Amino acid sequence: MQRGGWLPFDEFMQAALYAPGLGYYANALPKLGGMPASGSDFITAPELSPLFGQCIAQQLAQVLDAVEAAGGSRCVYEFGAGNGTLALQLCEHLAHISCRLERYFIIEISSELRMRQQEKLKAFADRITWLDALPAQMQGAVIGNEVLDAMPVKLLQRKQGLWHERGVVMQESGFAWEDRLTDLRPPCEIAGNHDYLTEIHPQPEAFMRTLAEHLSLGVAVFIDYGFPEAEYYHPQRHMGTLMTHHLHTSSTDPLVRIGEQDITAHVNFTACALAAQDAGLEVMGYCTQGRFLLNCGLLSKAEHLAQIPRASVAKLINEHEMGELSRFWRLAKGLDLEILGFTQGDRSHTL
Ligand SMILES: C[S@@+](CC[C@H](N)C(=O)[O-])C[C@H]1O[C@@H](n2cnc3c(N)ncnc32)[C@H](O)[C@@H]1O
Repeated sequence: MQRGGWLPFDEFMQAALYAPGLGYYANALPKLGGMPASGSDFITAPELSPLFGQCIAQQLAQVLDAVEAAGGSRCVYEFGAGNGTLALQLCEHLAHISCRLERYFIIEISSELRMRQQEKLKAFADRITWLDALPAQMQGAVIGNEVLDAMPVKLLQRKQGLWHERGVVMQESGFAWEDRLTDLRPPCEIAGNHDYLTEIHPQPEAFMRTLAEHLSLGVAVFIDYGFPEAEYYHPQRHMGTLMTHHLHTSSTDPLVRIGEQDITAHVNFTACALAAQDAGLEVMGYCTQGRFLLNCGLLSKAEHLAQIPRASVAKLINEHEMGELSRFWRLAKGLDLEILGFTQGDRSHTL
């Protein structure tokens, strides 16, 4: 370790999740899946029901038609494809609704997950390309489910009125927290002077700027757990949003089971939207996952399902499950399109 043995939390989180071979997303442990018996730690929406991908495919089809009409190419770019489940659902459903796809690109930083994706997507191998770097000009539809909330965050702690950056030191007994005075601040004032732990998000914001540089025509849709700024930095949210997941149990200590548990923090949608906007993207929609899926026809797709798969669909939209907490938002460049998933329930005004 450098800096006298002190590592800022974002660097610790980067290593704990992505260090080649050892980090949580880089090693061979199961990670994503339905039940703890499989050794998995958490479930994401595409793993829960294929109808998640089918609804998004309806949306992508509309975007691809509009991009083509504006002179662009019918490509899909997926960031952070996990087990490849969403990619499979999208490729299958786009084929099912006869939506022509020029190319499906996947940008994945974990080589272990890239191998899992290649295995799962064998049937579509002729249509899919894994990219190591973004093309200079991206045209089409961009999608990412739970990618921004898997990016490292910085931790800030206000103690007795003074702001500190929280970092990690190695002690004989293992890793421990150490706070150092800092000039860093949350993006808005936190009312009161009580002790307050929170996160800031330089990596997701930088990601938005990079996307803006590369997307020349199209629409990007991201789905993540998060809040607009006023909710994120509410004075009562004094313990932040950092969470870990291990065997389908959540906890708040990222300094244990390093490499064996997921670490995640909610996204500050306002900060990401501003970074995107400043870099030339238009922020054109923000709504709950439940709303987006209902707008894309989830209920009619679920009508003929048996009880068990229908219960999984309910989890996608129930307010106390993913329906309210997980949010969709979309950005665009060069297209002014009233898109399907945001026709009702748009909350962009809250960003
Ligand atoms: C929580 S998992 C979500 C996986 C999948 N999208 C799903 O919904 O099941 C996060 C994924 O994002 C990937 N990831 C994280 N940061 C990334 C980045 N900067 N670029 C591309 N992939 C990234 C991880 O390796 C992993 O595949």
